[in-house]
Amino acid sequence: MSGRGRFITLEGGEGVGKTTNLDWVAKWLTTRGVEVVRTREPGGTPRAEAIRELLLDPCQSEPLNADAELLLVFAARAQHLAQVIRPALERGAWVLCDRFTDATFAYQGGGRGLDHHRIALLEGLVQQGLQPDLTLLLDMPTHVAQQRVDSRGQQRDRFEQEQNAFFQAVRDAYLVRAAQAPERIAVIDASQPLADVQQALGEQLSHQLTEWL
Ligand code: TMP
Repeated sequence: MSGRGRFITLEGGEGVGKTTNLDWVAKWLTTRGVEVVRTREPGGTPRAEAIRELLLDPCQSEPLNADAELLLVFAARAQHLAQVIRPALERGAWVLCDRFTDATFAYQGGGRGLDHHRIALLEGLVQQGLQPDLTLLLDMPTHVAQQRVDSRGQQRDRFEQEQNAFFQAVRDAYLVRAAQAPERIAVIDASQPLADVQQALGEQLSHQLTEWL
């Protein structure tokens, strides 16, 4: 395949099955001859991963100011775009990213209650018009997702330690965003059995592929 690569993001709250489904999407694309660069946010480069550590550290001795959180997310994103995402797209690879700016609108906008216009301002500054070509939003009721996070039995990071109202606000903000950009964001019911989730993902990808090729 030639020309600029495609930029696909996977989104959703905690515990919706992003990792499993990201593996599946990467394999789906690779078996169709696409060169896939798989990456994640916050993170994706050594410096951006260092910012991720700051963001996720549950250390309680100093709370993280919400504006500082927002700026750190975009600082990591600027680095990730410059080092990984733009170069990959320019050489024709497809970028498959675990979360991107829809997560900022959902977590910092919905969850933290920050003004969407301020987020959009930073989005414009950092992305210079670059948007994902396709976003797969895995959606499920927050109480089901939280049970899955509990069953992992790992120590919770700073976001995972939030309460249900936060996760509900995140979910609501994701769904509002999907309703505002239905041509880009496909909502997938992630509470279905895994095989059905993957069938829905495959249908979305096939549909997009025929449009793009
Ligand atoms: P992960 O759980 O998908 O690895 O992501 C780490 C956390 O970062 C997750 O709880 C959501 C949060 N996050 C934001 O708050 N804003 C963002 O813009 C991104 C990309 C992630």
